[in-house]
Amino acid sequence: MARVLVVDDDPQVLKLIEKRLKDFSLITTTSPEEALGLVKEADVLLIDQRMPSMTGLELMEEVHKLYPDKPVIIMTAFGGVEEAVESIKRGAFHYVSKPINFDELTNILKKAVEIVKLKDKLKKLNELLGTDLIAESPAMRRVVETARKVAPFDTTVLITGESGTGKEVLAKFIHKNSRRRKGPFVPVNCSAIPENLLEAELFGYKKGSFSGAYTDKRGIVEEASGGTLFLDEIGDLPLQLQVKVLRLIQEKEIKPIGETKPKKVDVRIVCATNRNLKRLVEEGRFREDLFYRINVIHIHIPPLRERKEDILPLAYFFIKKTAEKFGVETKVLSERARRELLGYDWKGNVRELENTIERSFILSDIKTIDQIYFEEQREDSPVSGSYTGVKPYHVAKEEFERNYLKRLLEVAEGNISKASRLSGKTRAEIYRMMKKYGLR
Ligand SMILES: Nc1ncnc2c1ncn2[C@@H]1O[C@H](COP(=O)(O)OP(=O)(O)OP(=O)(O)O)[C@@H](O)[C@H]1O
Ligand SMILES: [Mg+2]
Repeated sequence: MARVLVVDDDPQVLKLIEKRLKDFSLITTTSPEEALGLVKEADVLLIDQRMPSMTGLELMEEVHKLYPDKPVIIMTAFGGVEEAVESIKRGAFHYVSKPINFDELTNILKKAVEIVKLKDKLKKLNELLGTDLIAESPAMRRVVETARKVAPFDTTVLITGESGTGKEVLAKFIHKNSRRRKGPFVPVNCSAIPENLLEAELFGYKKGSFSGAYTDKRGIVEEASGGTLFLDEIGDLPLQLQVKVLRLIQEKEIKPIGETKPKKVDVRIVCATNRNLKRLVEEGRFREDLFYRINVIHIHIPPLRERKEDILPLAYFFIKKTAEKFGVETKVLSERARRELLGYDWKGNVRELENTIERSFILSDIKTIDQIYFEEQREDSPVSGSYTGVKPYHVAKEEFERNYLKRLLEVAEGNISKASRLSGKTRAEIYRMMKKYGLR
């Protein structure tokens, strides 16, 4: 049953409410001060406006400082229209006037409870989904569906896909949807750590087990205890460590360097690679037994060029992210920009798209990303070749013309006659330029 906290300085009123509000479990008090301590227990608040120590609205404001989403219903005096209006203005969910019409009050309370439940549900859903994963294409939706299914089981998962396709995001998604969601998510890049350090990093060591081991050190695997260990680039794991990872998966045990007894650890393992593990097995560079152990559930993320439906949703997602990052207004994509995004082959996949959007966001005008600034493709790109700040003349001219035209049209508010007058160009010339630069 939904819980309602009722605050009224008049005990008679509280009694009456207790008698008449049958559909809720009530917590009542005559003291606004005491009420503040009880807010946490209630789904909805019902507060009298006229109380000696503090008005209902004052109490509501105190409540909302701590619980901005708690619905508050204010009880106003008979005919207190101004109080009613004021209470809504200041954030009350609703008001009821005294003497109370209990059918009306019951309805209002039920609505408030419903909204609380809905908000809760939405919050839970968002937490669960790990809101940061965009999947619009059928291919990507299947990927997410599989991930969602395997997440609750503690089984090992292998994620494959080209560089930048989102293997790590998906691993995190699996973690967030598992029973371990409150535990740590610990990524290790097996190819980034030098081979001779990797064992010590992964499994830890005992003081004095080698020169330089001045203290005991917990390994990354232990750090992940209670959570998920993400072994990225598992294909690059040296053979001699593969057997130790195998033991970790099979026995849930590790042996820190210099330790004689194995230690139990509680981790779920998700692996990723952009290499062909089967081929590595054939070449004798990856243990076959480990391959079968990690390959229980295999999820392949297709490259971005094979799921074009994701390009624009991802682009908008990154635009929003960039705007938030820099604390500026968001922007829209011009038709030309959208066409350019869809026509590109994205060898660097989602990561390249993300970088490209950020670059284009910064280099484009306010409000609209009119074109996409690809990394290496243009002759004026600072990335390709040596960057001198001097652009080829025709590039500089085009840039000037485009910016000039944009500003001109802004000032003229899109009125071509006015633009013509201001610029000294004929209307035909302006139309031609607009067409050339895709501006309307
Ligand atoms: N479906 C997606 N929705 C939102 N963001 C994504 C998605 N896929 C990838 N990204 C973003 O793209 C970037 C690259 O993703 P991630 O690091 O997971 O790729 P990866 O496959 O692990 O790449 P690599 O093989 O190079 O390590 C990250 O910033 C990530 O947040
Ligand atoms: Mg990665």
